Amino acid sequence: MRIGIDMGTTRTIAAGADRGNYPVLRFADLDGDQHDHFPSVIADVDGELVHGFAAERAARAGAPHLRSFKRLLGAPGTHPGTTVELGGQEHLLLDLVTAYLVAVREALPVPAGQVAVSVPAHAHSAQRIMTLEAFRRAGIDVIAMLNEPSAAGFEYTHHQSRSLTSRRTRIAVYDLGGGTFDSSLVEADGTGHVVLGSHGDSRLGGDDLDEVLLELVLERVGELSGLTADTLGPAGLAALREECRAAKERLLPQTRRMMIDLGQEHEPVILPVEEFYAAATPLVERTLEVMAPLVGELEAESGIAGIYLVGGGSGLPLVGRRLRERFGRRVHRSPYPAASTAIGLAIAADPDADVTLADRLSRGISVFREAQAGEGITIDQVLTPDEPLPATGVTTVTRTYTAAHTVGWFRFVEHAHRDPDGELRGDVVPCADVLFPFDPALRELDPAALARAEVTRREGGPRIEERYSLHPSGAVTVQITDLDSGFSREYGLARRG
Ligand SMILES: Nc1ncnc2c1ncn2[C@@H]1O[C@H](COP(=O)(O)OP(=O)(O)OP(=O)(O)O)[C@@H](O)[C@H]1O
Ligand SMILES: [Mg+2]
Repeated sequence: MRIGIDMGTTRTIAAGADRGNYPVLRFADLDGDQHDHFPSVIADVDGELVHGFAAERAARAGAPHLRSFKRLLGAPGTHPGTTVELGGQEHLLLDLVTAYLVAVREALPVPAGQVAVSVPAHAHSAQRIMTLEAFRRAGIDVIAMLNEPSAAGFEYTHHQSRSLTSRRTRIAVYDLGGGTFDSSLVEADGTGHVVLGSHGDSRLGGDDLDEVLLELVLERVGELSGLTADTLGPAGLAALREECRAAKERLLPQTRRMMIDLGQEHEPVILPVEEFYAAATPLVERTLEVMAPLVGELEAESGIAGIYLVGGGSGLPLVGRRLRERFGRRVHRSPYPAASTAIGLAIAADPDADVTLADRLSRGISVFREAQAGEGITIDQVLTPDEPLPATGVTTVTRTYTAAHTVGWFRFVEHAHRDPDGELRGDVVPCADVLFPFDPALRELDPAALARAEVTRREGGPRIEERYSLHPSGAVTVQITDLDSGFSREYGLARRG
């Protein structure tokens, strides 16, 4: 089955493409009960890593565990060599995420066929490439990587296309998740979707609202019973944080007071909701500021049909209230707030869907060249998004250099934008992986054997030319040639799927 997998900061959600329907896939917990998510938690049980529901149970029993590891992927400076401490051991973050995704794949109720995955709209290149790499290493065949709010945009147009009119063809997606806030302005033009812009904040999500509530509760218990973060200890504090999260999730628009349980030995804390909302308002205001450049004043001529609220965090009544105060009736909450991105990904993965990815002809092509396994990746934009298509013949671009390894490893991606500082922005779609034998001794190997060959440094390798050809159809091919011996191979950079 073609599926979409949305690896969230708190929950991973998957949806399938089933003859025009996009059901959310269910994961069984340890008791066999079905859930529409797989927890994004990793725990260390006596030196062995467990994931998802098993990790949640282990965490409750006091095992060392890691939540919100996606935030680490999104942290500035994260690279393939980044390590994380868990249970007194250093792990490569990439290994942890890969093992987690293996657990997700095995927990899926259907075999994962071709899969579309997502990253936050503002995710930088390292997060994108490491996420892709972890999925691949986990044995998952990724055919597309979309920005989370763009995927939610597909879900919107699929389910609510009637609210789009010939004058109002744009939709602003507001996605408040567990760890991230993302917003995108999506133009839905018939079957094509063009993302006009994306803005987000990787350090703003439901987790932060929990923290705000935790602070308030700690103030209260301090006054009432003298309990502090220190006397609670790390486990007590983690349990209280979970209580705060649960109390936050129970809030309804009409709720006046919140009750936070402190266990049997202490009286529960009662807090007026308005006190929590007053403390949380700056965070909600921050989301509005981040989104502001996309939607402006939402004047009639903006062409915006609505603001679409997705993500679990947008369930906080304060969020809907504040957005309606600001934008009025054009604010709509998804009927599947937590699953909207996964459903949109399943739609994107479905070749029969009537909503499709934006036309690829306007995308740039970049190549990731691995210097040496794990040691460093360089990114080179070979074609910019505004490269005109030739009317006839081909446009060529070449690169020449001296090979420094036994095997050349090239990962090609298509992308919408690239900042002057080199960061890829917008949707990034993998379009080809190419291995080229720089070492003449490896040229007899078939592709599978070449993929298994060890890559080592080899100074003074042959002079290599990469010649890219852009064809009138928008197709791109690359011919890689050993200029010393004339050995040459050509590869198509067609998108798979
Ligand atoms: N009813 C609710 N009211 C308020 N917050 C809620 C509600 N339900 C869920 N949440 C919060 O939503 C957040 C999780 O949202 P979601 O599942 O969309 O995030 P995610 O996809 O895991 O994270 P991200 O998209 O940031 O990577 C958590 O902070 C959770 O407490
Ligand atoms: Mg999410």
